[in-house]
Amino acid sequence: MSDRVITRRRAVVSGAAAAGVALTPWIARAQQAAELPLITKPIPSSGEPLPVIGVGTNAYGVETAEEMAELREVLARMPELGGKVVDTARVYGRSEEVIGELVEDIGNRDSLFLATKTPIRGDVSDTAAVLDVSFRNLRTERIDLMQVHNFNGLDVLIPAFERARDAGRIRYIGVSTSTDDQYDQMLAAIERYPLDFIQVDYSIDNRTSAERILPTAQERGIAVLTNVPFGGRRNAASLFSRVADRELPDWAAEFDASSWAQVFLKYVVSHPAVNAAIPGTTQMRHLLDNQAAGRGRLPDADMRRRIERFWDSLDS
Ligand SMILES: NC(=O)c1ccc[n+]([C@@H]2O[C@H](COP(=O)([O-])OP(=O)(O)OC[C@H]3O[C@@H](n4cnc5c(N)ncnc54)[C@H](OP(=O)(O)O)[C@@H]3O)[C@@H](O)[C@H]2O)c1
Repeated sequence: MSDRVITRRRAVVSGAAAAGVALTPWIARAQQAAELPLITKPIPSSGEPLPVIGVGTNAYGVETAEEMAELREVLARMPELGGKVVDTARVYGRSEEVIGELVEDIGNRDSLFLATKTPIRGDVSDTAAVLDVSFRNLRTERIDLMQVHNFNGLDVLIPAFERARDAGRIRYIGVSTSTDDQYDQMLAAIERYPLDFIQVDYSIDNRTSAERILPTAQERGIAVLTNVPFGGRRNAASLFSRVADRELPDWAAEFDASSWAQVFLKYVVSHPAVNAAIPGTTQMRHLLDNQAAGRGRLPDADMRRRIERFWDSLDS
């Protein structure tokens, strides 16, 4: 066994200990997953490989030392387990500031791919001031991906992003949404600007973007981050409750999934247009589960249809 695999197995065990999770068969499965090859997909505009499972941080706007401590563990362990993408936004309360403080304290900035978004509403015409806030909050001199959030100020922000990219402050530029009533705006933005990334909602229970957006992104060579892979923070419990009393089908092992979360995530990232999913993750046990979905095999086209048929056959 290589040193790296041993380190990853240790990261699982220490993560489990930090989360107060006993060494159950579930943790043993997470350890086994740590031995499988990491799945990455190249960013079309650069060829840079990106691991397919990151974290979403719309619940990182925390205040107390106890809450900060668990998030610190999540951000410290994620790159040890193979993950890289951390998606945040100005609108997520203190999320950018919390990430900036914790990442500086951990000292693992260079192991992360930091993605953030400009304000979701309000005046953004002073673009330099808008961008400076995110750099200050995140305590970094380089933001990997800057996204226009829900198209607010698109036409002033994209040129500002391009200038910042030319100056080496931003590595990639993109646009993000999570509702299908903004898909026409997304298609117009793709048409108007040379974007590196888009971010869009996609899950087994919400496949509209696969019909309306993902084929265009793939055709144009635009990387895709997918948000709300469990249906969104408010709805995730209801997505999981639909399979709560069901054993994982035997076919899940054919693509190395050992939990329902891994089935949902592997379904999302096996879409050929998708580069990475950003499941909202504040708990260490969820990080361990989700990072395991970033390793091993992915469902092929036949298996993807099988997962869809299975999901569509469930009572809603
Ligand atoms: N317009 C936009 O650009 C936009 C809109 C919405 C969201 N987003 C981005 O997308 C990210 C994801 O969205 P989201 O967080 O709302 O929804 P989500 O990822 O669909 O669901 C998050 C919920 O699932 C739980 N969870 C995570 N891993 C799990 C596991 N393995 N098993 C069971 N439950 C698990 C989380 O719990 P814990 O937190 O307790 O771990 C949380 O309650 C956001 O954080 C944000 O970065 C972007």
